[in-house]
This record gives sequence, C-alpha cells and structure tokens, in this order.
Amino acid sequence: EPEGAAEPRSAVVTIMGHVDHGKTTLLDYIRRAKVASGEAGGITQHIGAYRVPSERGDLTFLDTPGHEAFTAMRARGAQVTDVVILVVAADDGVMPQTEEAIKHARAAGVPLVVAVNKMDREEANPDRVKNELVAREVVPEEFGGDVQFIPCSALNGQGVEALLEAVALQAELLELKAVRDCPASGVVVESSLDRGRGPVATILVQNGVLNQGDTIISGTEFGRVRALLDERGDRVKSAGPSTPVVVLGLSGLPEAGDEVLAVEDERKARELVDRRREKSRDKRLQAQKA
Ligand code: GTP
Ligand code: NA
Ligand code: MG
Repeated sequence: EPEGAAEPRSAVVTIMGHVDHGKTTLLDYIRRAKVASGEAGGITQHIGAYRVPSERGDLTFLDTPGHEAFTAMRARGAQVTDVVILVVAADDGVMPQTEEAIKHARAAGVPLVVAVNKMDREEANPDRVKNELVAREVVPEEFGGDVQFIPCSALNGQGVEALLEAVALQAELLELKAVRDCPASGVVVESSLDRGRGPVATILVQNGVLNQGDTIISGTEFGRVRALLDERGDRVKSAGPSTPVVVLGLSGLPEAGDEVLAVEDERKARELVDRRREKSRDKRLQAQKA
C-alpha cells in the first residue's frame, strides 16, 4: 500500500465465462465496438483492456478468453479486478470454464455479478442457469443469496443497462480508492514483442500517475516510457489509477502479472533490475544443483 491520501477510483471489471458464451460480444455492445467478429476462429486469445466512460463514472473492463487453454489468463484477470461479470449463456448453462471462473473469483475474493446472456435465443432457459449456479453456491437474492443475476442479450442489448447498473452498485459498495500522489505502480496485463515497436506491455495503473518519460521497472526488465497509448492506439501523456495503458520503451518482455513500478531514474532502475536478475540466476543455479 503506497503512502498518501487515498481518493476514489473507478472500478476494474473482468468479464469471465465459458467459451463462446458471449463475453466479447457483450463488451462490444457496451463499447459500441466490433472486436468479436474480427477474432480468428471467433476465439479470444488474450486479455483486452478497455476504459468505458459512463454517467455513473468510468469503468475499466478486462475481457478474458473462455477457451480451456487459457486458465492462467483467467486467474490473472480475477486477481487484478474489483468485480467479475460471470457470463453464462442461457441456452447452454453452466459449463467447465464457468465453474473455473467461479473458483478464480472466489480465490481472489472478488464479488460476482451474473450476466445470463443470449436471452434472445428460443432455447434460453434462465431458470436452469439459476439452479445450476445455486448448486455451486452462487445464489441470487430471491433464493436468499446476495448475487445479482441479470438476464441480457449481447446481440440486441436487452438488459445490458441493468447489468451495468448492477456492476456500478457492486463497485460502490467496495468504496474503491487509490493514491494518486505517489510513484506510479501497477500490474502487467499482457506483453508481446512487436516487430516495429519492440516490447509492448499493457499495464493497468493501480496507484500514482504514469507519465511518458517515466522510468519504470517490471520483473527483470526496465526502461524509459517512450510512448503511452490508449486502447485505440492513440497517444496519451499520462495514465492514472484504474487506467489500462499500452507502454512502449521497455528493455524486454515483462510477464503478465508482474508488478510495475516507476523509479527515480535509469541508474536506480538498472540497480534494482540487476539485483533481480542476479537473484533469478542464483535460483536457476540452485535448482540445477538440486
Ligand atoms: P471466447 O472469448 O472465445 O471465450 O468467446 P466469448 O465468450 O467472447 O463469445 P463471443 O462474444 O465470441 O460470442 C460467441 C458467439 O455467440 C458469437 O457468434 C456471438 O455472435 C454469439 N452471441 C454472443 N452473445 C449473444 C447473444 O446475446 N445472443 C445470441 N443469439 N448470440 C450471441
Ligand atoms: Na468466442
Ligand atoms: Mg471472447
């Protein structure tokens, strides 16, 4: 926890659920975007981070893949979030990655809001979804629990406003705060090597304000922030708490989940990173001996 006066911050909301239950389409509707239809094989393969302005205050959404191969990404998504939207297709019901998402949310101690999606489909059976979730101890208010179930359709937008309302309410209860007046810190959501731009990292800023020109360390990498880009790829000068931002200028690829910290200058960064690199080298050597 950084020192300083804590101020209200907007919520980070992660969308989770079984493959093809409509997570990206739902987020597309909220953002008025069209990501889902452009994905290879219709399968999300990374965590997308988007800030969405609304009358109730901005929300930051993380989209996660539902395919069974991406367990680690889902776990990370749950760890950095304040609220999970659990998307369950009303025509399909609770599936293995629905259960997995519930486990990740529980392990991270994060409240759930259930989006009972695809209500426009003839086969939709919301009561079945309810019963299947109650059996897994995700209990709606009408059955004595405290979880909001919102029937919706990501295709026609029915119920999406109510869903956002429920998420905003849940977030309000959490009284989320962050310190702005401190060195920037956050977490790597994902990273990749871009042919033209070099190492590219999507970072969720959690405290402080990250500025272009800042020197940061993350894992065993460091660098001067050459450019900050928002989700549309537009350059921004700075990013405050709960804001996802793409960072260019790192020496290499930090791992998703690595902490990010702004430091005084490049000398300090080198010193810290050298120490970390030495440590991880020692660990490797010890592991080899054992
Ligand atoms: P992964 O990221 O691969 O796990 O999938 P996803 O959960 O993001 O699902 P995606 O948004 O890719 O949607 C899967 C399919 O379901 C697409 O063909 C969507 O058009 C469709 N779909 C999503 N939401 C709805 C809905 O509310 N109603 C109907 N009828 N179809 C939907
Ligand atoms: Na999909
Ligand atoms: Mg998706």
